[in-house]
Amino acid sequence: MVTTKITIAVDGYSSTGKSTFARLAASRLGYLYLDSGALYRSVTLYGLGNGHVGENGIDREGLQKSLDGLKVSFRKTEDGSFRTMLNGQDVEEKIRTLEVSSHVSRVAEIPFVRRFVDSILQEYGKGKGIVMDGRDIGTTVFPDAELKIFMTADRKVRAGRRMKEMEEAGKKVTFEEVLANIDQRDYTDTHRKTSPLSMAADAIELDNSHMTLDQELDWLKEILLKRFGICI
Ligand code: DC
Repeated sequence: MVTTKITIAVDGYSSTGKSTFARLAASRLGYLYLDSGALYRSVTLYGLGNGHVGENGIDREGLQKSLDGLKVSFRKTEDGSFRTMLNGQDVEEKIRTLEVSSHVSRVAEIPFVRRFVDSILQEYGKGKGIVMDGRDIGTTVFPDAELKIFMTADRKVRAGRRMKEMEEAGKKVTFEEVLANIDQRDYTDTHRKTSPLSMAADAIELDNSHMTLDQELDWLKEILLKRFGICI
């Protein structure tokens, strides 16, 4: 059991394996793991459900008003993983569909949505001892995080990973569709006005295009020991 409590921010492009890495790191450390993308996905699902988000665009005013009626939380399961809950309903699978994926970047660029999500994230992170993954955790949500990791990987490697995940979940998609979705999200994530995806000046880059998960964890183990005297 690790007693030193620090905040670890894991940012980077979509499908770089941030959540798998961050979840495992948290479990080794005995820390809380929080997936900030799940919150943006939940707001998107909610907006799609109440008609404020759709093919014809986003009704920003309607969406903003509706946020008063949205409560997102995380439920820990017996195996230690977290399920995303939207107003008490488990939406862990629903927030990962291609429909949500194709709208989420546009929802995530809205300033009031970012403020809504940031306040939930900052509340969860108050006690430290947390690993949080996202796009702007090290730059905006927790600029004082003791450790900031920025994950990258080749775009085709990322598309291959996402496709495998979707196939395992029984969804039929082509490689081209997945790659186009990744390119579009990279563009929107890095070009939005509010909190665009960028590497914090004090972050360490982890390019895992040709790394196994075990190698990534060995990399982290070395940093934690060298910088913080934390042994996992
Ligand atoms: O990591 P993900 O693919 O589940 O994220 C879903 C979307 O949410 C993605 O398009 C970018 C956005 N996002 C964000 O803007 N800021 C974060 N901290 C996390 C996710």
